[in-house]
Amino acid sequence: MKPKIFVTYPLAETAIQKLRRYFEVDINPEKRTLTQEELINSCQNKDGVLCLLTDNMNKTVIESCPSLKVISNYAVGYNNIDIGMANDRKIPVYYTPGVLTDATADLTLALILATTRRVVESDAFIRSGQFTGWSPDLLLGFDINGKTLGIVGMGRIGLAVAKRATAFNMSVMYTARHDKALKPYEYVSLDTLLEKADIISLHLPYTQENHHLINAQRLSQMKKTAFLINTARGPIVEEAALANALIAGKLAGAGLDVFEEEPKVHPDLLKLSQVVLLPHIGSATEDTRTNMALMAAENLVQFFFGQKTEHLVNPQALNT
Ligand code: GLV
Ligand code: GLV
Repeated sequence: MKPKIFVTYPLAETAIQKLRRYFEVDINPEKRTLTQEELINSCQNKDGVLCLLTDNMNKTVIESCPSLKVISNYAVGYNNIDIGMANDRKIPVYYTPGVLTDATADLTLALILATTRRVVESDAFIRSGQFTGWSPDLLLGFDINGKTLGIVGMGRIGLAVAKRATAFNMSVMYTARHDKALKPYEYVSLDTLLEKADIISLHLPYTQENHHLINAQRLSQMKKTAFLINTARGPIVEEAALANALIAGKLAGAGLDVFEEEPKVHPDLLKLSQVVLLPHIGSATEDTRTNMALMAAENLVQFFFGQKTEHLVNPQALNT
């Protein structure tokens, strides 16, 4: 008998076809996030689940699905899953690192350029009929050439952003848990980075430790001319504090692809023209999403029939 898999969203057909070769597959046909109750019901008697970052695989869900042997997350971030609980139940959790690195790094650069060069504001300006002709002081922005990019969290995505920034003639400093010896990128403390960087971009996973890492105090350490970019996870930034800092002119602007309580956005941020807001589209390209679906499917195949250890979040769950 084939193992039974539940897929929480109708993902790319090529990935579903792959899954059907190995598994008995049940798919949520609707393009919406399931409620906790629906998620629990759908995972009953399933051996594995392929879920999204919007599926909250918390203690209750994991406890309520005793047959579940594996979780495959369609994301590089896995803060939607209670890893401690998965460890207790010896449930390995898989994720999709690597395949979305370039797409996310590209979108980070898009946000850096959009905020510093006021791209969205300029587009709105034209559409509202305000463009009456070229002028020397129309919608002036900030050069990134020769400026310093500060990267918080130097994993795959941080490094891919650093490479792109170098092509724009920026110098790059980063902070991480330890010095990764990534010359010419300069390893510094978070304090130094906040004080010196012209653009600060977040590329660390969300954990309890870095909840509100960027709070009022840290925002006040930044230059008044600095921009904050977040394509990582919303709760790393205290959104209300960010809105206040922007309103008070303690920061020049922000580019945000993620929010504290998605899909909600702090109402003050919606009013600020120096903020560019995107609906969590870091990895949202046709190719990348297909590759994520294929990797999430392959991770399940590997767990049931193969090597098991690639793209695994919690190797301790496989120890007996
Ligand atoms: C997207 O936010 C991801 O974690 O893949
Ligand atoms: C994600 O791929 C990261 O490690 O930054």
